[in-house]
Amino acid sequence: MSAQTYTPLSSMGPQSRWRRVLMLAMVPMFCAFIYYAYESSFGPRSKSSQSQYPYHNNVSLPENDLSMLTVLKALYAPILHPVDAANFTDEEGNVYRLPPEPRFRKKLGKRVLIVDIDSRPLTGDGQLMNKELKWNAMRPLSSGMLSHYMFAMIHGYDYKFIRAPDYEDRWGTWVKVPMMREALKTHDYIVFMDSDVMFHYPHLPLEWLLNYWGMAKETLAMMSIDPDEPQNYDAKGNRYLNTGFVIAQNSKRTQEMYKNWAECPSEVRYKGCAHWKLDWAHEQAAFGNYVRYEYNRPNDIKVLPCAEANGAPEAANRGGCIGIFVRHYWVDKGVLSKTLADSVMQYFLPRIHQLYLQESKNHIIDAKGFKLDGAELVEMTPEEKAKLKEDEGKNQKDEGF
Ligand SMILES: *[C@@H]1O[C@H](CO)[C@@H](O)[C@H](O)[C@H]1NC(C)=O
Ligand SMILES: *[C@@H]1O[C@H](CO)[C@@H](O)[C@H](O)[C@H]1NC(C)=O
Repeated sequence: MSAQTYTPLSSMGPQSRWRRVLMLAMVPMFCAFIYYAYESSFGPRSKSSQSQYPYHNNVSLPENDLSMLTVLKALYAPILHPVDAANFTDEEGNVYRLPPEPRFRKKLGKRVLIVDIDSRPLTGDGQLMNKELKWNAMRPLSSGMLSHYMFAMIHGYDYKFIRAPDYEDRWGTWVKVPMMREALKTHDYIVFMDSDVMFHYPHLPLEWLLNYWGMAKETLAMMSIDPDEPQNYDAKGNRYLNTGFVIAQNSKRTQEMYKNWAECPSEVRYKGCAHWKLDWAHEQAAFGNYVRYEYNRPNDIKVLPCAEANGAPEAANRGGCIGIFVRHYWVDKGVLSKTLADSVMQYFLPRIHQLYLQESKNHIIDAKGFKLDGAELVEMTPEEKAKLKEDEGKNQKDEGF
């Protein structure tokens, strides 16, 4: 009987095998990814097993380095989209193409600043500057700002959080105008995002988007247009540009534009601007009603489509602003944390899955050749095994219990 009895899991293999499985699954998991799983996960693939990430970069990582920065690099660097790749396929299968001669061929690295600007302390429960931040108690804006930081780390851009002073007589959001101007003095490109704005594909570099959206040498800034709704129109009947996501390129003219924008409420240059100090849409209305009409050379301000750089899928019924590349969660800030999780899990999952299958000989136990008899597992006769094949799936349902 003993020879026919099912072997308990604990004695299926040598002890060391289990230790190894455990080790792979614990803290050095990422290391394991790199040194054990990297080659097969991200080596060139055949067409039939093409993943949704067509690029598999050969990445070398420092040995014995378990810093969070290396972990991030280990997760994203192998599948970063090249800055001048001819096309990009989104998760819906839609293909976006670059113009034939894209301007940006190399990574911009630290010439790019990803900047958060806020005048609040953000030290409360679930807020970013609090020493303790729990995943299940995180405030939405913490997720947003952490995702900006993560995006910068993944691509090697600079990141700053600027704790801005307040204007005494203006609504809080005005501070982003002079602060963006300051940031542009130290970097060639800045990306400012409100804390409810996120890049949807962290592996898609900013340079690719600059190519796609046509950042020209003389462009001052890029912003997305707001949804086609009455409150989003300026006095001349044009739709506002949303100042929650701004990519700006430094130049003398950019500095001058930001200066005029920040000084708009003084009414020295723009009569009637003062009431936007406190009235909605504040600095956005000042830009929309005055500044944009002064900076209106063809390449000065690039207007990005609402569908690509504004809104989120929840906002589909708001003029189709679904945030294909850049999401702005003005409909439901509650989804920000889930979105941050998605932007990790959509990359982490294929890796852990790869590891699972690759290591399967160590943890998949095939007990199909036994039959259950009360509490015992008894090895089946060849005839029983043949019959089993016929009855396959009889008492099971797909993914059910
Ligand atoms: C990746 O780079 C290493 C070191 O340069 C090299 O030995 C290895 O063959 C490369 N692998 C692939 C798949 O190109
Ligand atoms: C995207 O570009 C790559 C590289 O140039 C090419 O092989 C691929 O066929 C293109 N995909 C589509 C859908 O155009």
